[in-house]
Amino acid sequence: MYNWDDPIKEALNKTEKPVVNNNTQESVLNENKKSQVDLGSQEGLTGIENIEKGGERIKVDDKAIINCRADLNQLVPFKYEWAWQKYLDGSANHWMPEEIPMHDDIKLWQDPKGLTEDERQIVERNLGFFSTADSLVANNLVLAVYKHITNPECRQYLLRQAFEEAIHTHAYQYCVQSLGLDESRIFNMYREIPSVATKAEWALPFTQSLGDPNFKTGTLENNQRLLRDLIAFYVVFEGIFFYVGFTQILSLGRRNKLTGVSQQFQYILRDESMHMNFGIDVINQIKNENPELWTEEFQTEMIALIKTGVDLETKYAYDTMPRPILGMSAQTFEEYLQFIANRRFTQVGLPQQYKDVSNPFEWMSEIMDLKKEKNFFETRVTEYQTGGKLKF
Ligand SMILES: [Fe+2]
Ligand SMILES: [Fe+2]
Repeated sequence: MYNWDDPIKEALNKTEKPVVNNNTQESVLNENKKSQVDLGSQEGLTGIENIEKGGERIKVDDKAIINCRADLNQLVPFKYEWAWQKYLDGSANHWMPEEIPMHDDIKLWQDPKGLTEDERQIVERNLGFFSTADSLVANNLVLAVYKHITNPECRQYLLRQAFEEAIHTHAYQYCVQSLGLDESRIFNMYREIPSVATKAEWALPFTQSLGDPNFKTGTLENNQRLLRDLIAFYVVFEGIFFYVGFTQILSLGRRNKLTGVSQQFQYILRDESMHMNFGIDVINQIKNENPELWTEEFQTEMIALIKTGVDLETKYAYDTMPRPILGMSAQTFEEYLQFIANRRFTQVGLPQQYKDVSNPFEWMSEIMDLKKEKNFFETRVTEYQTGGKLKF
């Protein structure tokens, strides 16, 4: 059972704070210089260096996922086929929020007897959380992560992901607009509702840590800072923080309530599970190429970081579901989140931390695995194939 004694402070204190340097520029530069001398900096290119005229052609072995010194503006030859494949898969899944009919949702929302108060609260809280969450993820990608991933096929996917995050924010705005909700209240929830605020507040320092204009990878400490940010965002934020909300909204859809909103969330969930899988591949690739980063101490810290994520999301479940509804309760979510976290631990090569937990929401896995079949709302073919990919 979750400890309710000032859980926000408790969860935030449990997390090791990433380094956010507020010193003067000079001392930051000195610090960078010092760590370069100490550890031998091997920082990578960014892609905006002057063109090396007469430079040699790229060989696959020249490429590296971080701290690469080979030209970043040449996409091929591919080294990480998995990254390119995910870019192709993401592009084949393209969709836009306006394609999903919302008429029935509008009618149901306007009907005073259409939904219970608890159901309305779940919808509003989740729109409140997600409407700013995807901006945080997008900002982390473009303002913190992108510069330091020194591989063009991975960057190609990051650009695709950044656009998908824009589509997701658009989808939440579209739901808010369709249902006629007070948009400033919903979008401001991350500054008003504690359990929404906490998740954002927990994640932001990781972005700030890399967003420091003087930050460079190339030292053990800084490479770990990048890896820590990737685990915080891909494993915890996109891999745990989204799952209570997704399950709650999709559960409404399964009961034929707000099927338009549910379908928006279903498409988003499919994108998100690909984002997370890409992030996990990147994390494991960095670990493979730089095994010295994965120290015992760092592993212990990452286990604590992921467990804090589980605590915050559990708190969110209790906050959004004071009473059981739609065949779900906050207690069921406690087990579900522990089950998900065990999977995340395994995916990044850490030991599972929760004993005797199973998946209380098997149907969620089925939704994520749905590919070419019609989706469970029976409204349209879920897999959105474009151009030459479309087969009948
Ligand atoms: Fe997203
Ligand atoms: Fe995402």
